[in-house]
Amino acid sequence: MVSALAAAGAATQRLSPARAAVVARHVTGSRYQPAFLGRAVASVAAPLAAAAAVAAVSLGSARRRQSSVVRASPLVAMAVDFKRAAAVGDEVLVRYTGTLVEDGSVFDSSEGREPLSFTIGAHEVVTGFDKAVRGMKVGEKIKVTLLPEEAYGQRQDDLLIGLPAEKVPPGLEVGQQVMLGQGSQKIPVRVKQILPDGSAMLDANSPMAGKTLAFEIELVGFRDVVKGLEVAGWQGKRFQVPFAVANSPVSQVLQTPSWPPAWPYTAADFKRQDESDDSRFYDEPRFVTHIDDDAIASIRGFYGLHFAQAPQGEYSVLDICSSWVSHFPEDLRAKRVAITGFRVWELAANKQATEFQVRNLNVEPKLPYGDNEFDFVTNVVSVDYLNKPREVFQEMHRVLKPGGVAIMSFSNRCFSSKAIAMWVANMSDGPGHCQIVGTHPSSVS
Ligand SMILES: *[C@@H]1O[C@H](CO)[C@@H](O)[C@H](O)[C@H]1NC(C)=O
Repeated sequence: MVSALAAAGAATQRLSPARAAVVARHVTGSRYQPAFLGRAVASVAAPLAAAAAVAAVSLGSARRRQSSVVRASPLVAMAVDFKRAAAVGDEVLVRYTGTLVEDGSVFDSSEGREPLSFTIGAHEVVTGFDKAVRGMKVGEKIKVTLLPEEAYGQRQDDLLIGLPAEKVPPGLEVGQQVMLGQGSQKIPVRVKQILPDGSAMLDANSPMAGKTLAFEIELVGFRDVVKGLEVAGWQGKRFQVPFAVANSPVSQVLQTPSWPPAWPYTAADFKRQDESDDSRFYDEPRFVTHIDDDAIASIRGFYGLHFAQAPQGEYSVLDICSSWVSHFPEDLRAKRVAITGFRVWELAANKQATEFQVRNLNVEPKLPYGDNEFDFVTNVVSVDYLNKPREVFQEMHRVLKPGGVAIMSFSNRCFSSKAIAMWVANMSDGPGHCQIVGTHPSSVS
């Protein structure tokens, strides 16, 4: 039901002129700029720029069965969370090693233990450590040096406490750590001195007080991000995607999908701000990549896991809306790699393709292939530009072998003047975009 509402919401969102202007200003900038993920996007999609940088929707083909079967066929959305920067309130997991600057000795380390978990800004760790982690991304490593003020403070003489002889327990030794006080008022102290009269001098300063500390810190992850998602792939085989974020709204939206009973969209949903000839827009050769390296690595990894389910050296792949690079794994073991797109110079430069066909699917939504030819159909950051997606999905379905898989990857960036209205209506609506992409195959029969 929730997903049905999301679909209805997406379907009824219209692009008002004012909103279009805002989106265009922030997202496109100059339309001939490469649309790198996570750069200009922060201004328009701040909450999402961090998460859901790429989502992939895959659908199994169930040809020659009733459309209700197609609707029930596995449909998976997946978010990859690699762009998020640690901020106040986040519960983070870190590995670290702390050394004393004075002699280089290691005084504390998470080595051989579980990573340290703490909430940023909650005073659970020394202030300098807390501040150092802010802005870090998963996998990042930093080195910081903390002065005593940002660590355990300066030594304070008024934290030296004299203990009269009659209160000194037998056997107390210099250097010993003891608790002083009663009940909840206990504080840890160190025995600094035992005087000839039997009285003792206790030091309530932290042993680390007055010391300058060096830390190496690695951000391992966020406590609230649950990694790992099981998906269905080629011939329905199930496998784990370790880098998928299981608890992202993007990953959840298609888990219990609910599709509108009838095709929910109108012609206005597929309108584009710039309806001029697409081939003109892309006229000059632009060997740009529209997503950043992390996103590409995730797509490549996702493909690798999918392709591994099929017999190596025998499967066939079709990449639509393709260009000079298809983001397939480097050790691609496909028998046939067909690509279509409308820029011949880019297609000709694609080194992984074994064949190419020039085709503008917005003008002619037909794939130049026979029925049941491919095990996989892929599409990277272009599904949002298809103005006849229903026809194109029908075609993908036709050219896929039974049990084949189509994988659509998209991000929160696009050339907004060329993307369909219902997509640019809310560029930070990752779950909504998944719902849109999911609705296309759900209507295929
Ligand atoms: C855009 O989508 C996000 C994520 O679904 C949502 O939280 C936000 O409210 C939407 N913004 C607008 C203006 O509809």
